[in-house]
Amino acid sequence: MDDVTIAVRRARPQDAAGVAAVYISSWHDTYAGILPAQLLCAMTPEGQAARWRATIGAGGRERVLVAEQGAAGIVGMTSYGPARDNVGGCDGEIYTLYVDPNYFGCGIGRALLGSAFVELERRGYASCVIWAHAKNPVRYFYEAMGGRLVAQRRIRLMGDVVPEAAFGWSRLALAQRAAH
Ligand SMILES: CC(C)(COP(=O)(O)OP(=O)(O)OC[C@H]1O[C@@H](n2cnc3c(N)ncnc32)[C@H](O)[C@@H]1OP(=O)(O)O)[C@@H](O)C(=O)NCCC(=O)NCCS
Repeated sequence: MDDVTIAVRRARPQDAAGVAAVYISSWHDTYAGILPAQLLCAMTPEGQAARWRATIGAGGRERVLVAEQGAAGIVGMTSYGPARDNVGGCDGEIYTLYVDPNYFGCGIGRALLGSAFVELERRGYASCVIWAHAKNPVRYFYEAMGGRLVAQRRIRLMGDVVPEAAFGWSRLALAQRAAH
């Protein structure tokens, strides 16, 4: 799908159902066969909507942006805030970045990431990290956006060992240019 006009803006509590729908469909598309089926099946639209309504409404450390496309509504989301680990010396972190699979390759991921970089810098962060499943081809996207591999780890998720890779941007001011 080409030539998609999108707008990125801060999420509102009433966006929670749309955010949840994108989050679940993108998770299912990306992680089927990679993450435990038990985990994927445990996600419900109601549960995810409640999670995102609470996060957006709290206005706390985790902030949420959405990408909207005309009548289609919310087609992408991202959340960000302070880094949870001291990885690669980065102080900011993108916690989530998910685009509706029907809209992959339309520039929505780039727009969301670029906007999150702007927001992080506005809030005083100098750099940024993102953790991804090591088997997720998203690494090519992050490299195209100027990120570089800064760390690797293994975590336990529902009894499975999950390999993860961290991509970092050491200067958000430069990162914004790569993402636009
Ligand atoms: C990864 C993701 C956010 C990218 O968003 P997108 O809207 O599809 O990507 P864009 O159209 O903005 O692509 C931007 C650039 O990255 C490149 N790119 C995107 N996905 C890529 C892939 N899978 N492999 C190689 N390059 C890729 C594109 O070629 C594009 O470069 P160009 O515009 O210079 O040609 C999206 O595909 C997605 O939600 N994937 C599933 C969920 C996921 O893995 N999220 C990350 C969890 S850590």
